[in-house]
Amino acid sequence: MARKTSRKPAPAASRAPVIDIGIDARDRARIADSLAHVLADTYTLYLKTHAFHWNVEGPMFNTLHLMFMEQYTELWNALDEIAERIRALGFPAPGTYAEFARLTSIEERPGVPEAMEMVRRLVKGHEAVARTVRKGFPAAEKAGDESTVDLLTQRLQIHEKTAWMLRSLLQ
Ligand SMILES: [Fe+2]
Repeated sequence: MARKTSRKPAPAASRAPVIDIGIDARDRARIADSLAHVLADTYTLYLKTHAFHWNVEGPMFNTLHLMFMEQYTELWNALDEIAERIRALGFPAPGTYAEFARLTSIEERPGVPEAMEMVRRLVKGHEAVARTVRKGFPAAEKAGDESTVDLLTQRLQIHEKTAWMLRSLLQ
């Protein structure tokens, strides 16, 4: 015979209430999906930038080695903000190379390019992330998700500015 207590609902403290932040589940899913693409692009560009920091050579070594370090550090820190926004919306953040490879719009290329080709590829990378970020605005704006809009705006500003700074080295 079942114990009487087994029919009682679990104490409220042991169960998480449904997410009720004023954005319905379908909109949260759409926003989380666009953030997953931003996360994958950011991770892929992070890795590319860090590898260029390791492998850059030539007369611009010091400048580029340090500049790439600043850039990959910024990207690394951004990953956490993006992933935790996905979590706050109620979805798991992608965290495997296979998922990132499937989601990213940034091309991975083997080998070590020469220094100015690295800069060229990073311009393209930052512009690619900027495009992915831009695609995320409509869903977030439609749902009144100002937190995500704010995050996307910050990311967009960084990627556009970094693309400009890198591009200036090539002119
Ligand atoms: Fe280093």
